[in-house]
Amino acid sequence: MVQRTHTVLVVDFGAQYAQLIARRVRELNVYSEIVPHRITAAEVAKKEPSAIILSGGPKSVHVDGAPSLDPAIYELGVPILGICYGVQLIAQQLGGTVGRGLRGEYGRAKATLIGDAAGTLLQGLPVEQDVWMSHFDAVTVVPDGFVATATSPDAPVAAMECAERKIWGVQWHPEVVHTPYGMAVLQRFLHDLAGCEPNWTMGSIIDEQVAAVRAQVGTGRVICALSGGVDSAVAAALVHRAIGHQLVCIYVDTGLMRLNESDQVVETFKRNMGIELIHVSAGPRYFEKLAGVVEPETKRKIIGELFVRIFEEHTGGLSDAEYLVQGTLYPDVIESGGADGTASVIKSHHNVGGLPDDMTLKLVEPLRDLFKDEVRKLGKELGLPDEIVLRQPFPGPGLGVRILGEVTPERVSTLQHADAIVRDEIHKAGLERELWQSFAVLAADVRSVGVMGDERTYAHPIIIRAVTSDDAMTADWARLPYELLETMSNRIINEVAGVNRVVYDVTSKPPGTIEWE
Ligand code: XMP
Repeated sequence: MVQRTHTVLVVDFGAQYAQLIARRVRELNVYSEIVPHRITAAEVAKKEPSAIILSGGPKSVHVDGAPSLDPAIYELGVPILGICYGVQLIAQQLGGTVGRGLRGEYGRAKATLIGDAAGTLLQGLPVEQDVWMSHFDAVTVVPDGFVATATSPDAPVAAMECAERKIWGVQWHPEVVHTPYGMAVLQRFLHDLAGCEPNWTMGSIIDEQVAAVRAQVGTGRVICALSGGVDSAVAAALVHRAIGHQLVCIYVDTGLMRLNESDQVVETFKRNMGIELIHVSAGPRYFEKLAGVVEPETKRKIIGELFVRIFEEHTGGLSDAEYLVQGTLYPDVIESGGADGTASVIKSHHNVGGLPDDMTLKLVEPLRDLFKDEVRKLGKELGLPDEIVLRQPFPGPGLGVRILGEVTPERVSTLQHADAIVRDEIHKAGLERELWQSFAVLAADVRSVGVMGDERTYAHPIIIRAVTSDDAMTADWARLPYELLETMSNRIINEVAGVNRVVYDVTSKPPGTIEWE
């Protein structure tokens, strides 16, 4: 691991508050890491953080089993900011009182600063300000040595501090956009009070990861399966920056990619970036294996297994490569309990459909400290085009799971053209970034009657799917403007042969899934 100048530890007390705080810290150009609340003072000390932020959480400090903090952490002399549950915990652990709420505050509230200077954290901010609250309990008596620096209608102590001990706290949520001076509070804490220099930038991340990859792989041979997706693309570009021709990328064109996607990947990586790319055109092999197959899980299995076979064929049986690049992101790391160290040995690789059990490649994961939006920024910094960096997620089995019925080259071509129209119109409407995904599905085994000119038609429907989501675990169907749907429908029916009807999917997840198969 490369040592960073400043690290902020965000202690996670549950719910999703910690991730948002960690992102805000990073937006202020300071590196942040999320740690579990069970972390000990010794473990904290080992990380040598420049500051600690205690997140909010869903529990009351008064309930049995409420998450707590090793009290020795308060004695380390590291500046601490408590937010919501965090400030209540500080009060409780250091001898103040947390009152059980009578009404609580949820949503917008008015905080009023107390005293002339409002302490060291809130200095210079408006005496009255809107803040976003979400709490039931509240601090009623500050611990010895602390002063209250703000109050609100339902939180007698809405902010408190003990500058000598370098401990501050706010009952409201400075990390949410609904708190107008939230970033000012975080900035003051990080840059001024904790002395964190704002030097964690995309440029510094690249330098750091380039050094880390070189140190990890030495002269070893590294392979990477490019899918065309953002994460593998950025990971490959970064590793290439570090070790050049020691990296070999494999791009398997399954024949199930979107219109012109394969050309774009090859153009970008091979021609523009000079990355050694093995481009395997495997469409015919996929179509042969998929002939007559209708059942979705069987399709997925066939597509995944064939990928593995082709991957093996083109990497010397995987025997002389030692390392595999993976586009693992920070949310995956947090989900799996967090981890230190960058090299672990894997047995399967979900993104590429499950590589064989006997494969023991060491992983190179240069994005494992980053959130998705940071990966996109990094990709831009590395010179990747917007078409790749801003791309929406695309499933491994590709259009194979968007053709309801048997997958044939003709059907793929029909779907590719309809899908290109959907994406083109979404792009023209400027909605690309607001949507998690927008695409077309071909109901290949359904036909309906229509009339075009004076002719009866009997052809397939195209389903338009567009959803909003934060993490794909849940999703809502997008309320696209009628005019946009109309334009898409007209264009698809006029421009795509074999389609005579367009429908819009108004199913959320749950109960639906985002993909149709
Ligand atoms: P569902 O359809 O389960 O999809 O709601 C959730 C998200 O995952 C994507 N997806 C996949 N991604 N390999 C992938 O890499 C797959 O086999 C796969 N299946 C679904 C889907 O596009 C959506 O973003």
